[in-house]
Amino acid sequence: VPDANAVATTAANRIAAVIRARAASDPARPAVLGVATGSSPLGTYAALAERVRSGELDTTGVRAFALDEYVGLDPAHPESYHSVIRRTVTEPLGLDPARVHVPDGAASDLEAACAEYERLIRDAGGVDLQLLGIGANGHIGFNEPTSSFASRTRIKTLAPQTRADNARFFDSPEQVPVHCVTQGLGTILEARRLLLVAQGEAKADAVAQMIEGPLASVCPASALQLHPDAVVVIDRAAASKL
Ligand code: GLP
Repeated sequence: VPDANAVATTAANRIAAVIRARAASDPARPAVLGVATGSSPLGTYAALAERVRSGELDTTGVRAFALDEYVGLDPAHPESYHSVIRRTVTEPLGLDPARVHVPDGAASDLEAACAEYERLIRDAGGVDLQLLGIGANGHIGFNEPTSSFASRTRIKTLAPQTRADNARFFDSPEQVPVHCVTQGLGTILEARRLLLVAQGEAKADAVAQMIEGPLASVCPASALQLHPDAVVVIDRAAASKL
């Protein structure tokens, strides 16, 4: 699509369609969305929020699962993904906070918390649509290069490039956490639909590797090639190396 606005509108249309279809086919089980942090999906969230405000879209009962969280950051920290998801998704989309889940990066037993997160997703009936951004190094969620395609929710070490990319959200680069918990590529691939959004030249290499490169763990997003219903919505700049 031509530009970032069109990315947001196109992605919001698809998400709204899934929310409406679920509400119509099984009112007792509203849609389960997978949501991502990062700047890429912000336009999509804003477009959805506008529809909720105008009464065009009803999000009652919609459940959401975030992809990832930093380890060692207080959930109340403004840059924790608990806070980011509340600010950018839960509140603007009018979701019930009790139905919005973010991995627990502050748990004393992180492995148990990761297993519990997998169980929560399963008990919710799985994810109907997973929204994704892509890192400049091809990561999705925080599945950094060399992540296993079969991986589940687990503890990861952030790649130096990811820490540098995310330093803009912190007072100094040293404050960016070193570890995170993230849904695995295997977890993400189980969502019934994948929807990846990207805009801007900085993502052009990663987008080209994801779509036209080999299926290879050095580009974790290439895992989308394995999924039967994966849609990639990008602007001209992000598509410039295809
Ligand atoms: C972040 C998130 C990813 C996101 C990516 C790109 O670190 N963990 O889910 O897709 O990096 O971020 P942005 O959209 O700001 O470029």
